Amino acid sequence: MKIALIGFGVVGQGLLEILRDKAADLKTQYGFEAQVVAVATRSKGTLYNPAGLDIPALLAAADDFSGYPDSAGLTRGTDILDLIKTCNADVMVECSHTNLQTGQPALDYCYAALDSGKHVVLANKGPVAVGYNELVARAAQAGKQLRFEATVMAGTPSIRLALQALAGCKITEARGILNGTTNYILTQMEGGMSYAEALAQAQQLGYAEADPAGDVEGWDAAGKVIILARALFNSSITFKDMDVKGITAITADDVKAAAQAGEKWKLVARVTADGGSVQPMRVKLSNPLAAVSGATNAITYTTDLLGDVTLVGSGAGRLQTGFGLLSDLLDIYAR
Ligand SMILES: NC(=O)c1ccc[n+]([C@@H]2O[C@H](COP(=O)([O-])OP(=O)(O)OC[C@H]3O[C@@H](n4cnc5c(N)ncnc54)[C@H](OP(=O)(O)O)[C@@H]3O)[C@@H](O)[C@H]2O)c1
Repeated sequence: MKIALIGFGVVGQGLLEILRDKAADLKTQYGFEAQVVAVATRSKGTLYNPAGLDIPALLAAADDFSGYPDSAGLTRGTDILDLIKTCNADVMVECSHTNLQTGQPALDYCYAALDSGKHVVLANKGPVAVGYNELVARAAQAGKQLRFEATVMAGTPSIRLALQALAGCKITEARGILNGTTNYILTQMEGGMSYAEALAQAQQLGYAEADPAGDVEGWDAAGKVIILARALFNSSITFKDMDVKGITAITADDVKAAAQAGEKWKLVARVTADGGSVQPMRVKLSNPLAAVSGATNAITYTTDLLGDVTLVGSGAGRLQTGFGLLSDLLDIYAR
């Protein structure tokens, strides 16, 4: 499988580390052999070799593509859209910056890939949240796959569980903790920290961005609700249709009062066929979501045949998200 990798930060490098370290196992167990033919970032430019780039050399040159050795067939500095359209990749893996308002420029990258006959696998929520219907239509037109497991709970198989393992069940609701930063902050507040102290610690540990608004005001989780609404219920909700509230107003006293009542505050993302929401809520300790602490994520699907099914796991991270991309690549390969 020939791969064009767009975005080569934490997640893109995580995927290549996995492909480097697991190459032999992937070949023996699944017959899967990946070749990275193109890599592109906004500031570092592009590298393309139709015969395949050297993965260890790419990882060594991740901060500066000029450190990647010249070799026969190598092209540098192609325009990203031109590269996507003309390269010989079978699949484009999109892990560039998220824009939840427009999905761009990643959305155009996805259109270019599908229109030029490539499968698309994303870690980037933006294009899926903004352009799902058009992406699905273009994928169908091209006879190619569109996959986005890594956009919700990183490699923890939230989407695969719903669409594949639970196929045959009717899912009536999904609700979960889909943002690790806010869950980390709320967990630290249970231990006695103020909101500001917990946020500062989350920033120090790299869980929260310097500008944490997208996480703490609920928009990151809301983007995931939109993706789940589309994937599970074929419903085209947008941010405007949803009640979205973050955790910025939750105080240490609120957390204490919940504890005294045998409850915990959680930022709960919820989606049904009728809509979605992101709201801080007090949940009883008997609720499986109450046991999810720190930066961990969880999702509960309510189904007709199986009742509630809860999946708990990592929602971010280099290898965790890299694995989400790999799981989609393996799935496409197996078809
Ligand atoms: N990190 C996680 O745990 C995680 C989990 C799930 C999903 N995701 C999603 O996965 C994506 C990548 O995350 P990350 O943590 O790897 O971010 P990152 O470390 O900031 O890397 C982003 C990469 O995208 C490139 N990029 C930015 N704008 C671009 C553009 N217009 N065209 C081409 N490349 C562009 C950056 O290149 P320059 O450095 O040259 O700007 C960089 O190589 C994001 O959409 C994120 O939301 C991340």
